[in-house]
Amino acid sequence: MWSRFPVPDIIPPMPILNSHSLDFFSRSPEQTRRIGRRLGGALQAGDVICLQGELGAGKTTFVQGVAQGWGSQDSVSSPTFILVNIYRRADQSLLFHMDAYRLDSTPEAEELDLDTMLAQGPLLIEWPERIDGLVPPEHLWISLEHVEEEEREMKFKASGKRYDELLAMIRHAAFGGE
Ligand SMILES: Nc1ncnc2c1ncn2[C@@H]1O[C@H](COP(=O)(O)OP(=O)(O)O)[C@@H](O)[C@H]1O
Ligand SMILES: [Mg+2]
Repeated sequence: MWSRFPVPDIIPPMPILNSHSLDFFSRSPEQTRRIGRRLGGALQAGDVICLQGELGAGKTTFVQGVAQGWGSQDSVSSPTFILVNIYRRADQSLLFHMDAYRLDSTPEAEELDLDTMLAQGPLLIEWPERIDGLVPPEHLWISLEHVEEEEREMKFKASGKRYDELLAMIRHAAFGGE
């Protein structure tokens, strides 16, 4: 029997790439690194990745995975005292890892030449909220939150087309396996 209810001519497509955010629960440091590795493998010069979260939230753990996936020859350490760590790859490209925790004055922050770094490689920023006005408007913003001893909530927010694409790839890695 035919339905008496009108059937729409156009069925809206399933949302695939049009979501700008992703919420994910990591259940171990290794899982956090795994997602990081997946992102790291896709990073290019000019990419900006912001990592927000309290001490111990897992920002540096995530960066370890990113650096590994990107192909870093150097090991990751917390740049709290030197502000920016630079990691190298065999092909001479660079990965910048900044920790803005100790930056609290704008003039001090303005001396950081983000543009010069971005021309040479991707940039990961821990404590990006401390240099709010300097973060380029297009970026991937990841906030990490402690849930339990080994569990962290990771919220990804993409601003700009490039970051929508990276987010789609992360979504795949998180829910589709590696
Ligand atoms: N799911 C998880 N993801 C990331 N780190 C975790 C997780 N569970 C436990 N940890 C631990 O929490 C700590 C996170 O430290 P770190 O990455 O240096 O944080 P931050 O850079 O945010 O201060 C590490 O000791 C790590 O082993
Ligand atoms: Mg850290």
